[in-house]
Amino acid sequence: MKTTTTEQALRLGSKVVYQIYIKSFQDTTGNGMGDLRGITTRLDYLADLGVDYLWITPFFPSPQNDNGYDVSDYRAVEPMFGTMEDFEELSREARKRGMSLMLDMVFNHTSTEHEWFQRALAGDPKYLAYYKFVDATPDATAEDPGEPPTNWESKFGGNAWEYVPSLNKWYLHLFDVTQADLDWDNPQVRAELVDVLRFWRSKGVDAFRFDVVNLVSKPATWENDYEGDGRRFYTDGPHIHEYLQELVREGDIDGLLTVGEMSSTSVDNCIRYSNPACHELSMAFSFHHLKVDYPNGEKWALMEPDIAKLREIFATWQERVTEGGGWNALFWSNHDQPRPNSRFGAVATREDWKRSSEMLALCTHLMRGTPYIYQGEELGMTNPDFTSIDQYRDVESINYYQILQERGHSPEDAFRIVHERSRDDSRTPVQWDDSPHAGFSSVEPWIGVSNNCHWLNAAAEVDDPDSVYSFFKRLISLRKEEPIIQGGSIEFMESPSEKVIAYRRTLGHECLLVQCNFSCEQQPALVHTGGTVLVSNYDEPGNDTTLRPWEATATIWR
Ligand code: GLC
Repeated sequence: MKTTTTEQALRLGSKVVYQIYIKSFQDTTGNGMGDLRGITTRLDYLADLGVDYLWITPFFPSPQNDNGYDVSDYRAVEPMFGTMEDFEELSREARKRGMSLMLDMVFNHTSTEHEWFQRALAGDPKYLAYYKFVDATPDATAEDPGEPPTNWESKFGGNAWEYVPSLNKWYLHLFDVTQADLDWDNPQVRAELVDVLRFWRSKGVDAFRFDVVNLVSKPATWENDYEGDGRRFYTDGPHIHEYLQELVREGDIDGLLTVGEMSSTSVDNCIRYSNPACHELSMAFSFHHLKVDYPNGEKWALMEPDIAKLREIFATWQERVTEGGGWNALFWSNHDQPRPNSRFGAVATREDWKRSSEMLALCTHLMRGTPYIYQGEELGMTNPDFTSIDQYRDVESINYYQILQERGHSPEDAFRIVHERSRDDSRTPVQWDDSPHAGFSSVEPWIGVSNNCHWLNAAAEVDDPDSVYSFFKRLISLRKEEPIIQGGSIEFMESPSEKVIAYRRTLGHECLLVQCNFSCEQQPALVHTGGTVLVSNYDEPGNDTTLRPWEATATIWR
């Protein structure tokens, strides 16, 4: 096990992944939406930052009800994002600059516009068996379909089953009603998905992200969930490991860089997903650390983040996954999460904005695992200052704005919650410069640009050695230079304060102490002597006993 772990750390621990939400990255056609060629035009910027892999969110044909996570053809390019030639050019140009593309495989469900679902709707038994269809009672009608097969909730609100009158059947959709869950118990479905992987492999793709992939194995019987929303029946479901092993083996992707999005998973399952001996994936995204500001687990309610709990979750996942020979994806942000500095830091003054953005970056980038940077995070982009629900585009936000009011919240209150929690918080266009539409597009973009683009933009940051961008660049190059960051063991320290997270990395005789102050006040530091500062978000040395507001410092002993 030890040798595998070292090999794993060498292979994965020196890499950094950058996530591109294509629709908001760079528009080159003047339609207000990003596209593949837009990514190609920004490759020099990404190479300068120093990242290794570019995860591109789905650019396949799609009605875009969930911005591309509702795929209607897995083997083509959505015309609004470009052509297959554009993809090939992007892939070639990225490779020239030492970067690889990571494709986003949405295999839990297809769009209801996918040919398979359309054939199912036409009554073709082969394709009916591709999805989770369940018979309705004989007397069901469109007006009165009766009770759905279970009381499970869709992640985007409402019941997770939809009735189809022409078939007198229900189908399962854990997400939007236009995203029908595939039946992974059907070997033909699994073979189709393997074929999709092979198709992209033949185009030279050598990294994959798998969307909500721990939800694909559903239980054999349908039961109501009287304790929750149903997730306990299908999360890390009965055949999940077997199905993943088969996909990896048959798709010939064992040993490539792969990551699974593992919704509400457990540490033990994540170890199995990511331990090389299990031949599943290279690493897993888990989300427990991004729920420390959900009161009683409720996303659509507000509270201050609980930093002591955050520390405990990091400690558990970092230490236990390491012990189990697994590997973590390190991240604060993606296209489903609000911006981390608006959430765990402070953005009201420029001083706090800069320090807290950098503190958060240092905190995860020096952990054991592979860091992921979500577009704009390296600039310190914040949640947008939207003032009306009409500015939001996401199906989940729009649904919950209504649901919250149905639950008794005033429109103002519902708006305040959506404003803090919306997935659109991170989906506003990348702020490239201070020209109209922030250099993202020549026309009004599909979603509004944040007002702070006048001062917060790439043009202002790339050449400034003291910018958030330059700080990210430094963290990335440190990871490449320092074996202790790539593969050192990790141990979390007792915190001297509820607002401080501290951990120690060790490799041979070397030791790296990381301390992060998650507050705008001074906090006590861990007692230590000697060592030299490897990286800090303060230029002037502090004293050994105090952490300054939002200070993050890594001290090394060699
Ligand atoms: C994942 C994606 C999210 C999408 C959902 C359904 O959570 O990250 O954007 O809505 O899966 O595909």
